Amino acid sequence: MQERIIAGEALPGDKELEVTLRPQRLQDFVGQERAKANLEVFIQAAKLREESLDHVLLYGPPGLGKTTLARIIARELGVNIQTTSGPAIERPGDLAAILTGLNQGDVLFIDEIHRLSRTVEEILYPAMEDFALDIIVGKGPSARSLRLDLVHFTLIGATTRIGLLTSPLRDRFGVVARLEYYQPEALQEIIFRTASILGVTITAEAALEVATRARGTPRIANRLLKRVRDFAQVKSEDMISVDTARGALASLEVDPLGLDRSDRQLLTALINNFGGGPVGLDTLAAILSEDAGTVEEVYEPFLLQQGLIMRTARGRMATSLAYRHMGIEMPAGLEQMEITGSE
Ligand SMILES: Nc1ncnc2c1ncn2[C@@H]1O[C@H](COP(=O)(O)OP(=O)(O)OP(=O)(O)O)[C@@H](O)[C@H]1O
Ligand SMILES: [Mg+2]
Repeated sequence: MQERIIAGEALPGDKELEVTLRPQRLQDFVGQERAKANLEVFIQAAKLREESLDHVLLYGPPGLGKTTLARIIARELGVNIQTTSGPAIERPGDLAAILTGLNQGDVLFIDEIHRLSRTVEEILYPAMEDFALDIIVGKGPSARSLRLDLVHFTLIGATTRIGLLTSPLRDRFGVVARLEYYQPEALQEIIFRTASILGVTITAEAALEVATRARGTPRIANRLLKRVRDFAQVKSEDMISVDTARGALASLEVDPLGLDRSDRQLLTALINNFGGGPVGLDTLAAILSEDAGTVEEVYEPFLLQQGLIMRTARGRMATSLAYRHMGIEMPAGLEQMEITGSE
């Protein structure tokens, strides 16, 4: 497989390691059984028919393996992949140049596809549907539209915000795969795999401890493992023990649910300053000095999934679980509201 990065994917610091940690084949990709099983069938069928794979949309929270899967799909298909991202394609002409540069069957990977501009997106519609490019030649009354044929290719789009995709774009993907948070057992397996690539050993118990605190996210599991390794190394420990792992995670301020300082700050503010909510997204963002998009994309999905917050029409609310987790007593009136439903 040959890979050409067109634009938009920088590789600073930890990102380099991320590249080497990426599984290369579908069989090495841990977890996401449903998405994986489906993809396996579609890939095999496309190869049997000697056709390009239908366009694939991958969505889900950050760090669950969208980019990794896109590269695996290209490898399994035995084709080249060209990588770019929504914000990197500024003008329709940029996309036209990328599309005309593709070879038969290639994968075009567009990360953050929800950030494509509307005018660029319109070029994509006929390209995805008819493998054609409509270009306007000339100006004013003499302008005419010209249709240019493209080779058959597979577009793989990735997004953390499927809700921001326009429906014409979403509807043009034949395969839509949602990536879910990983179970601790799957993350444990990923941690073992990463440990062996890093050349460190870790007990099963320690690996599970890191796994349960990794917010269901492989990227976080790998990051925590690297930091835990640092603590073990300083202690000259050959095999990372569960005690070292726990100690390291405590020093990193990662709690037993995997919440970090920002998550806890958000919950504490929601409970102490706003009586448990409801509070608007912008207010939450202001508490963390983050932009609303980041809160919605990075912090909220996991807190929602864990049942620590609820999203209501009037804003976000802390649940009784959040009170319990933060060790704050929930006012009786609020508890009642939660049972009867806040809406
Ligand atoms: N199923 C998996 N098995 C093993 N490692 C994985 C798996 N999924 C992800 N990883 C690892 O987690 C890291 C993050 O994955 P990746 O970059 O593909 O996530 P992403 O969904 O594209 O995130 P983002 O939304 O931030 O772009 C990578 O280093 C990859 O090696
Ligand atoms: Mg990615």
